Amino acid sequence: MARLTRTLLLASGLASSAAAQNQTSQGLHSLMVAAGKLYFGTAMETNNFNDAAYQAISTNKNEFGMFTPENSQKWEVTEPKQGQFSFTQADQVLEKVKSNGQLFRCHTLTWHSQLPSFVSAGTWTPETLTAVMTAHITTVMEHYAGQCYAWDVVNEALNEDGTFRESVFLTTLGESYIPLSFTLAAAADPAGTTKLYYNDFNLEISSAKADGALKIVQLIQAAGAKIDGVGFQAHLNVGQTPSRAELGATLGRFTALGVEVAYTELDVAHGSLPASDADNEQQAVDYVAAVGSCLDVEGCVGVTVWQFTDVYSWVPSTFPGKGEACLYTEDYQKKPAYEAVLALLQEAAAAAKGAGSGAGNGGRGGAGGGVGGGIRSRLPRVSMGRLWLWADWLGWFCRLWLLCLSFKG
Ligand code: G3I
Repeated sequence: MARLTRTLLLASGLASSAAAQNQTSQGLHSLMVAAGKLYFGTAMETNNFNDAAYQAISTNKNEFGMFTPENSQKWEVTEPKQGQFSFTQADQVLEKVKSNGQLFRCHTLTWHSQLPSFVSAGTWTPETLTAVMTAHITTVMEHYAGQCYAWDVVNEALNEDGTFRESVFLTTLGESYIPLSFTLAAAADPAGTTKLYYNDFNLEISSAKADGALKIVQLIQAAGAKIDGVGFQAHLNVGQTPSRAELGATLGRFTALGVEVAYTELDVAHGSLPASDADNEQQAVDYVAAVGSCLDVEGCVGVTVWQFTDVYSWVPSTFPGKGEACLYTEDYQKKPAYEAVLALLQEAAAAAKGAGSGAGNGGRGGAGGGVGGGIRSRLPRVSMGRLWLWADWLGWFCRLWLLCLSFKG
């Protein structure tokens, strides 16, 4: 761990940086914001509330600024029986987050999984299913009006080859259920303050699936519906994570369509347990690749980890033998991955600050921010201070050249 941290610090030139030293008391979220992004967040659920160690970390606003309820806004919880809505659990998550001045990201509306049986096992016509979707999306979104930074409107609609996944929605309505969901979501948010996202996994590693998601964005846009973002879940595997540049290039394909992007469920699982020191160093490299790619792409707004401690990771129960995917161990020790991401963000925050002070335009320059991405994110980053220096030298060079010419003349 020490070796990895030292290597990363040296590589980023931070070892001698006084600015970075001053920021060691800062956390993932505050540094992410200082680097020009909106947030660093985590999933959380009500079963985490009575865990004092968990709460000590999650309520630290420097560490996490955005929270996604891991399960309690899913259809089987919010509308277990047709027309009977229940928001108790997700409301508790929202209240905890809000009372601490942190933000809320909402998950999810139209998804083939964690559906109540009245939907998954029902007999539907396009009209009756549309009515049920309308009631669900409208009621749930209106309940959380003005509270969610974003909603994952449609979740995981794709197979790995980029074709549409079989579901009650696809069978009954065809692909039109996707733009329909976005149209209903936009209608339920007349103020237009909530970002509407398509959210899926493996977009980072499968170009066929990423192609499918790009087509989904275009399908929604062509239908005249509102889509603001694409969520890259980023359930990644140690040693099989694409490079920072590859990840950034994939994000850039989406921002080129005019939508923002975010990593919405980041974790990096070990294939065999317990993880060795070398495995943990590789995990750190993979986390840095993902978070770094978000820093590199202007339209990437933030990163959410799908739980920050292995205690509550979903991975081992779904993939027995795999796991230890989070930034903190089960006993709340920071892993090399945590230290490496922190060092990365310290560097990005210092660079953004330098760029801001050099050009006299502090704030969201340097490492990015805002929406739109594209060409700027692929250009090498040059600080404004250095540009002025070059301009200054060029000016002196021209003056000398003119002086020589006048002597010659
Ligand atoms: O609520 C029941 C409880 O009543 C019962 O006693 C218990 C017994 O196992 O199960 C509980 O339900 C569990 C539920 O989480 C709530 O804790 C399910 O078994 C369990 O399968 C479910 O897993 C969740 C999974 O989504 C379901 O698909 C994970 O916690 C959650 O992390 C995971 O999150 C998904 C995202 O929503 C979408 N992207 C993939 C991601 C990981 O699968």
